[in-house]
Amino acid sequence: MPVPVGIIGAGPAGLLLSHLLHRAGIESVVLEARSRSYVEQRVRAGVLEHPTVQLLDEVGLGDRLHREGLRHGGIHLLFDGQRHHIDFTELAGSAITVYGQQEVVKDLIAARLAAGGDIRFEVADVELHGLDTGRPRISFTQDGQPESLECQIVAGCDGFHGVSRRSIPAGVLTAFEREYPFAWLGILAEAPPSSPELIYAYHERGFALHSMRSPRVTRNYLQVPPDEDISLWPDTRIWDELQTRLATAGEPALTEGPVIDKGVTPMRSFVVEPMQHGRLFLAGDAAHIVPPTGAKGMNLAMADVRVLAGAIARFLQDGQDDLLRAYSDTCLRRVWRAEHFSWWMTSMLHCFPDADPFQHQLQLSQLRYTVSSRAAATTLAENYVGLPIEGR
Ligand code: FAD
Ligand code: DHB
Repeated sequence: MPVPVGIIGAGPAGLLLSHLLHRAGIESVVLEARSRSYVEQRVRAGVLEHPTVQLLDEVGLGDRLHREGLRHGGIHLLFDGQRHHIDFTELAGSAITVYGQQEVVKDLIAARLAAGGDIRFEVADVELHGLDTGRPRISFTQDGQPESLECQIVAGCDGFHGVSRRSIPAGVLTAFEREYPFAWLGILAEAPPSSPELIYAYHERGFALHSMRSPRVTRNYLQVPPDEDISLWPDTRIWDELQTRLATAGEPALTEGPVIDKGVTPMRSFVVEPMQHGRLFLAGDAAHIVPPTGAKGMNLAMADVRVLAGAIARFLQDGQDDLLRAYSDTCLRRVWRAEHFSWWMTSMLHCFPDADPFQHQLQLSQLRYTVSSRAAATTLAENYVGLPIEGR
């Protein structure tokens, strides 16, 4: 039996799409290369924009998020040893919620499985066929057995390194890309937060971020050289560097604790246009990447599939392909806003290896203006809390 929608990837994009389609009465099959426990434990993003929280509420996924998530009405920018508060509630009228990506993934998997959803973990050799036809097909292997799935629509939600984007013939996509001359070393630590809200720090030794997951667990990041060897960073060196870069006049040192997860994330801006080809629609990291400064990646992935779910429902239920045809253009407006914001935050807050003293003064001036001008602070606040999501 053909399935209406075949979804590659069980990250936030693929799982939420499957959930939204189910609520619209459309069944789908999700194919995921990794195991369930792997995707539920992968530590990544942690900030939900206000429109993302509204969306999760609307579709019945807000309970644990509101119980366990931390609502933050602002962030701190730290430079020259002083912290400056940007008040999102006052400037933009809404707040963000700190809730780990793997918690969103757990909630989505639980909801799909409770509703009898079909998620196939640990599949391999996924290949897409007949994307130019009305009946595309996905071939894959599961437990060593070859399998095939005929569908009407294929959603490529398989992240930056997935197979979907690579399945589009050469010459169709235009790629826009920027690589940054640094990476982030991220840790999760059993240590209570040292500040009620996130701290983004510009320091002469490099960027640092103090974030959190719960009243007992913090998430911290340090700017490091690209492709940094993590073995060069024993826990004591990480804490010493965090203490230096996040030191604030009049505030106690960070509370330290055992490191329970550690990794290096490369920094890249990347967009392909269009985000679709024939019956294949790309969503989330499969189509675009932002550097993590500003916490947009997961939010963009979920905004894409909100638009895609509405467009698929109109096509499969009303026979109208207008929203599907407009999918890429609709998403790219939001994508490029987030690309600009993430690039801007990254450029303002990191030390570039080739920067001269003039560049350093420009960055400091931009930071001072951002924290002292209500107009500039409002620009940061409304982009950070997130612009409304389009869609049905
Ligand atoms: P993903 O979450 O990548 O999901 C794609 C899924 O597809 C994965 O489960 C993958 O296993 C699966 N898959 C891949 N290939 C195949 C295949 N061939 N067949 C089947 N399945 C396949 N954003 C932030 O805002 N803040 C952060 O701190 C942050 N940290 C990050 C750290 C890392 C290491 C990475 C990689 C990303 C980080 N991001 C961060 C970005 C954010 O996590 C992503 O934007 C978000 O995960 C995008 O969701 P997605 O569903 O599009 O893709
Ligand atoms: C987190 C990650 C980010 O990229 C960011 O800008 C803020 C917070 C986090 O993992 O908590």
